[in-house]
Amino acid sequence: MNDIAIEVKNLSVIFTRYSALENINLGIPFGTFVSIVGPNGAGKTTFLKVILGLIKPNHGVINVLGKSAGELSPFDLGYVPQIKTLDRTFPALPIELVSTGLNAKWPAAIGKDDNKIIMDSLERVGAGNLARRPLNKLSGGELQRIYLARALIRKPKILVLDEPATGIDWIGEKDIHKIIDEYKTDFNATIIMVTHDWESAYHHADFVLLLNKVAVCFDKPEKAFTEDYLSQTFGHVGHKHEMLFSGRHHD
Ligand SMILES: Nc1ncnc2c1ncn2[C@@H]1O[C@H](COP(=O)(O)OP(=O)(O)OP(=O)(O)O)[C@@H](O)[C@H]1O
Ligand SMILES: [Mg+2]
Repeated sequence: MNDIAIEVKNLSVIFTRYSALENINLGIPFGTFVSIVGPNGAGKTTFLKVILGLIKPNHGVINVLGKSAGELSPFDLGYVPQIKTLDRTFPALPIELVSTGLNAKWPAAIGKDDNKIIMDSLERVGAGNLARRPLNKLSGGELQRIYLARALIRKPKILVLDEPATGIDWIGEKDIHKIIDEYKTDFNATIIMVTHDWESAYHHADFVLLLNKVAVCFDKPEKAFTEDYLSQTFGHVGHKHEMLFSGRHHD
């Protein structure tokens, strides 16, 4: 057993004529929090989907917890998709959606034991009060909490989140970073999160992957968030990327 949870070797993904990821090589250690940062269309979601086994790479090898991506179970990996891809019109209740994380099928009825597990998961993300509010009545942030509860219900060793905070107010007694940090500590989980929020990546991540088709940098936040690497990732926009990060603190 080595200490690498996810190993990526020579990964390339090519969509008809267009290359989305080029020769990515990295190893994500167990129990770390990795933030993925890069411009729109950089391949961030594609990278997550390769780890999840939803996209088959054209080249390269992905090893997750010693398995290849297609062999993973909900005990290994939980996924919170990017909000813009979520179907908000589906007439259903949060408690039912979360139960699909437990049983991988839509429930005819939810038994007492399952109900307890589902409610525990909803409460972990501060959404116990939303269990029976129709999904199409929820705000974007509330809906994403429900998906987070669904992703956490099997207590996966790896949690993958695609831009959980974009355009969303996580107002409430528990904000998303607190929830994720608690989960990481309680289960010694590995967290991979795509974010456009550099400040929070700087403060919360153990490692930052700067991605724009290629892995520009995969290193500790203070090494990754430099003017040089950010310019390589986001392009030269005629002014310096203002890096006004205050002192890094954990918790
Ligand atoms: N199934 C697909 N077929 C063809 N092209 C695709 C497919 N999925 C993604 N792409 C293209 O690959 C590139 C990377 O897409 P991806 O969704 O991974 O970017 P992203 O970094 O997540 O962007 P965003 O910040 O907007 O979410 C984009 O140019 C996108 O149009
Ligand atoms: Mg994306």
